[in-house]
Amino acid sequence: EKEGFDHFMLKEIYEQPTALRNTLKDKFESDKVNLPDLNIDSEYLKGVNKIAIVACGTAWHAGLVGKHLFETLLRIPVEIDIASEFRYRNPLVDEKTLVIVVSQSGETADTLAAMRDSQKKGAKVLAVTNNKGSSIARESEFIFHTIAGPEIAVASTKAYTTQLMGFYLITLYFGQLLGKEMPKELYDGLKEIPVLADKVLQNTKDQLDKITAPFDGWDNSFFIGRGMDWYVSQEGSLKLKEISYIHAEAYAAGELKHGTLALIEQDIPVVAVATQQDIYDKTVSNIKEVKARGGYVIAVVQEGDEDISHSVDEVIKIPKVPSLLTPILSVIPLQLLSYKEAVKRGQDVDKPRNLAKSVTVE
Ligand code: M6R
Repeated sequence: EKEGFDHFMLKEIYEQPTALRNTLKDKFESDKVNLPDLNIDSEYLKGVNKIAIVACGTAWHAGLVGKHLFETLLRIPVEIDIASEFRYRNPLVDEKTLVIVVSQSGETADTLAAMRDSQKKGAKVLAVTNNKGSSIARESEFIFHTIAGPEIAVASTKAYTTQLMGFYLITLYFGQLLGKEMPKELYDGLKEIPVLADKVLQNTKDQLDKITAPFDGWDNSFFIGRGMDWYVSQEGSLKLKEISYIHAEAYAAGELKHGTLALIEQDIPVVAVATQQDIYDKTVSNIKEVKARGGYVIAVVQEGDEDISHSVDEVIKIPKVPSLLTPILSVIPLQLLSYKEAVKRGQDVDKPRNLAKSVTVE
């Protein structure tokens, strides 16, 4: 069933354009987003004064992007928490809170428990899930179904990018329901994403030897970025840790000089994601701080960025899209990098040690 791929993970990375296309399918109606299956009406939504996003692992990383989107475009306060933390801290949740749980499997024990506790407190739950028949899908009031298809590899890839797609669509749809003007470039950009994801796969393929070489001999690395780029850095670092067993710390770029810069030594690999136009210069100055201490920097930037090559050692380019949309593309090279590095190190890519695909115990 690997259809010619060496591992399920690689097959699933390559399935992303299709998974994204399927998740987008039938969601647009005369250039607006339409999500009738969500069953949310504007009356209910207008009464919501807070959103709480709850998930684990990669799904939580998708939630970080979701929070950024909701707050930027809808100006609704959003709290985000890891399910195992949320459920034991008696969170402030009531009838006016919309709780969004994100779960590929729909069976993650902590996420399910967090959602049940929230419902007891009167909140309604929207589940972003890849499994329609799961406990989380059955017990939630509202569902957004990601159409990633079955994900077999323990390391999540296409589930993550389709969860991001879910957050984009939900944000635009909520904006419409609330009567807010949503940026047209996001509607246009979203429709292009499947084709662009394919482009990223094609473009990165030949660079993998070069971008993994700096990791040779290292058991430590860093991923840095700001805003959307920081959330993607966290997902990239998790992928690398999970399957290649190289420790990777994801750091908000501006926070480096508050501690981690002490760990930058000659040639240590640092992946820097710098796709956000409004904070680009800030990220580049953090990259320079790393370079000045000898770090080996692999940068992920948008096409058209010709200057970056003067400041870093390797450059990976993703197609130009509005800054809010970059995570869905910039994560793909990071998935491929982790995959390639894990293969090089002879690790069991699809079944990393100590981990299970579905975590049904807490
Ligand atoms: O099925 P879920 O989305 O609830 O799973 C959540 C996490 O266990 C999962 O994303 C995990 O972090 C992945 N193995 C990461 O690649």
